[in-house]
Formats: sequence, C-alpha cells, structure tokens
Amino acid sequence: MSEPGMMVELEGVSKGFGVGAARVEVLTALDLEVAEGRLLAVVGPSGVGKSTLLHLVGLLDRPDGGRIRLDGRDVAGLDGGERAGLRNRMIGFIFQHHYLLDELDALDNVALPLRIAGTGAAKARARARELLDAVRLGDRAGHFPDMLSGGEQQRVAVARALAMRPRLLLADEPTGNLDRANAEQVFAMVKDLHLLAGLTSIIVTHDEELARMCDGVFRLAPAGARFEHV
Ligand SMILES: Nc1ncnc2c1ncn2[C@@H]1O[C@H](COP(=O)(O)OP(=O)(O)O)[C@@H](O)[C@H]1O
Ligand SMILES: [Mg+2]
Repeated sequence: MSEPGMMVELEGVSKGFGVGAARVEVLTALDLEVAEGRLLAVVGPSGVGKSTLLHLVGLLDRPDGGRIRLDGRDVAGLDGGERAGLRNRMIGFIFQHHYLLDELDALDNVALPLRIAGTGAAKARARARELLDAVRLGDRAGHFPDMLSGGEQQRVAVARALAMRPRLLLADEPTGNLDRANAEQVFAMVKDLHLLAGLTSIIVTHDEELARMCDGVFRLAPAGARFEHV
C-alpha cells in the first residue's frame, strides 16, 4: 500500500545487468521511502549501484523485480510513452557532467526543455531568465557554455533541471567535477531551490560533508543499504 505523503517508494526492488556467467546483481530487495519535501543523500562506494538506483527512480530504466511508486502511483504498468511523459512533467535531472548544448547560450539551454514541451519562445525565455537569476547567473544569460566556469556550467544545468517545474529532483554526483568552493556553492543553490520550490530531492554524492547537510543519508553497500539520520 502507498503511504500518504510519500513521493518515492521502492519495495523489494532488484536490478542486475548481463546474462549467464556475466550477470551482475546490483540492487537486491531494496526498500526506500522518501517523503514529500525531503532532501535525501545517497552515498556508497563506486560501482555499488547509486546511478542504477537513480535511473530506476527517474524512469530511465526498469527494475527486474519489486515495486516503484512515485507520488503514490505504481509506475510498473506504464508504457514507454507514459513513462516519458511522467518523467518530463515530474522529474528534473542533474548529472555530474552538465550536458549543456555548446551551440546554445545559457538562456536558451535553460529554455530548451520548455521549447521542446511546446512553450512559446517569449514565455520560455522569461522563465529561463527567472531561473538564471535564481542561480545568480542573470548576467551570464548570453554566454555560451565554453565561456562559463565549471561551477557556472553546473548552475545553468541546475536551472535547466527546474525549467519544467518538476516535483522530484534527481542529481547524480552534481558536484563531482567541481573544486571545494564550487561544490559547496552548487550544493547550496540546489538546497535553496529545493526548499523554495517545495521539491523532493535525491542527491547521489561522494561528499560526506554535503551528505550531512541533507535531511537523511541512504548508505548503499554491497551487502545492503541502511538509513542514517532521516
Ligand atoms: N547499463 C549497464 N550495463 C551493464 N552493467 C551496468 C550498466 N549500468 C550499470 N552497470 C553495472 O552496475 C554496477 C553499478 O553501477 P552504477 O549504478 O553506475 O554504480 P555507482 O553509480 O554506484 O558507481 C556496476 O558494476 C556497473 O558496471
Ligand atoms: Mg554513478
């Protein structure tokens, strides 16, 4: 049964890759609940399945077994088109690499998801400008990605992730390529925007210090996973 106020619910989720002798079981019988409005850190050693977990929650991949509910809705029965629609409307992604398009300036990169969804150019740009202001890059709107620092590129990616007003933000090592000062700045912005927009957020990170600034830490280990302070 779905619990009220739960944005993300995983129950007995398993996921592996490959066949036969090359088969690797990555996640086994994984349970996870993230209440609406929480900011959860996911930590664990490299290769343990953090990205795999985020892909499952983000509807980028399907589990081999178990149940996944987003906002109370079982997503198992959805076909590819329904999953893509739900993903676009509900979920914002930030990755370790910014994946900005080189040929678009910061403003148009942030506006792009809206343009793809059919929003008119003027309205999309107005929203993009608002988001660039929110990540304090309003004065860089006309700059192309190669004119921006690593931290600035990632802040544009944060703005883009929020363009569609998602309810769920999934970030996979968003500060992994940044130095200490930039990592802290990007994390602080993600946290501020998470609170401001009333998001539910899951952040995969290697950074124990940043993990401690989240509401809870989900520690993935090869032997299983456990919660710390939630
Ligand atoms: N698409 C895939 N095909 C085959 N193996 C994969 C695939 N995605 C992930 N894996 C494997 O699953 C394990 C977990 O990977 P991943 O979730 O990326 O770990 P993490 O993000 O914690 O470093 C690794 O052994 C990885 O090689
Ligand atoms: Mg990973």
